Amino acid sequence: MKRRDFESGVRAIVTGGARGIGRAIACRLLEDGYSVVIFDIDRDEGIRAASELEAIGRIDFIDADVGSEESVYRAFQKVHADYGQIDAVVNNAGIAEGFGSPIEHLDIGRWNRVLAVNLTSIALMAKHSYPLFRGSKGAIVNISSTRFLQSEKNTFAYSASKGGVVSLTHSLAVSLGPLIRVNCISPGWIDTKGEPLRPEDHAQHPAGRVGRPQDIASLASYLLSEEAGFITGQNFIVDGGMTRKMIYAE
Ligand SMILES: NC(=O)c1ccc[n+]([C@@H]2O[C@H](COP(=O)([O-])OP(=O)(O)OC[C@H]3O[C@@H](n4cnc5c(N)ncnc54)[C@H](O)[C@@H]3O)[C@@H](O)[C@H]2O)c1
Repeated sequence: MKRRDFESGVRAIVTGGARGIGRAIACRLLEDGYSVVIFDIDRDEGIRAASELEAIGRIDFIDADVGSEESVYRAFQKVHADYGQIDAVVNNAGIAEGFGSPIEHLDIGRWNRVLAVNLTSIALMAKHSYPLFRGSKGAIVNISSTRFLQSEKNTFAYSASKGGVVSLTHSLAVSLGPLIRVNCISPGWIDTKGEPLRPEDHAQHPAGRVGRPQDIASLASYLLSEEAGFITGQNFIVDGGMTRKMIYAE
């Protein structure tokens, strides 16, 4: 990928950029020459990530809860004051833990929170970033999950939210184009914690390994770039081939 010139002043927002996949995306976009603003609810990790990555390029952290319209509105007021306009948004923040309660124990408060953070946030980010996009170069990348099309038991809110992200992606693409392209990435198993993995964890993947945050960051980089200028409204599965495997018991 051709590095962007820092002086061109391209600017990206990455939600959930304090750690994991979001941090890898923030790092990759800095390497590409973007100035990056992380929106994250984890203030300590967000400040840490920004200070560790600032050797690569201009990066700021804004303490924001993307599931709250008030918080998203305030975050974009700061972005507008400090950066003026923006070129790219990566909607990566999400709540992934908390699987496992059977349907009769569904906690509707928890359901609403997961939907707010994983799905409604993307509509809020589009609403409040839209006035800050400039020219015809804008792009948005949303992070869904392979759980948009397959499930383990009792993952109701997460699966529903990620299905919504794929649908919201094409709705936004059709509505915001041609000014802004909107695409989606659906990761499979991405090792963000660096914990020891078993050989069979890797071997079950047709690609021969569990995913890395950089696998997602490199595709996000491409989808935001002008080289992807004819791609919008799409969802890209990055899962080492797992969703292509038949898994019936022998
Ligand atoms: N890791 C995987 O295997 C995997 C697989 C499929 C999809 N995903 C998706 O990728 C994205 C990132 O996953 P990850 O594994 O890096 O997760 P993670 O939990 O390591 O990081 C998520 C980040 O989002 C932030 N965040 C959570 N709620 C927020 C809120 N309300 N406002 C702002 N920031 C908030 C967290 O503080 C954290 O920094 C998520 O959307 C997740 O659903 C991950």
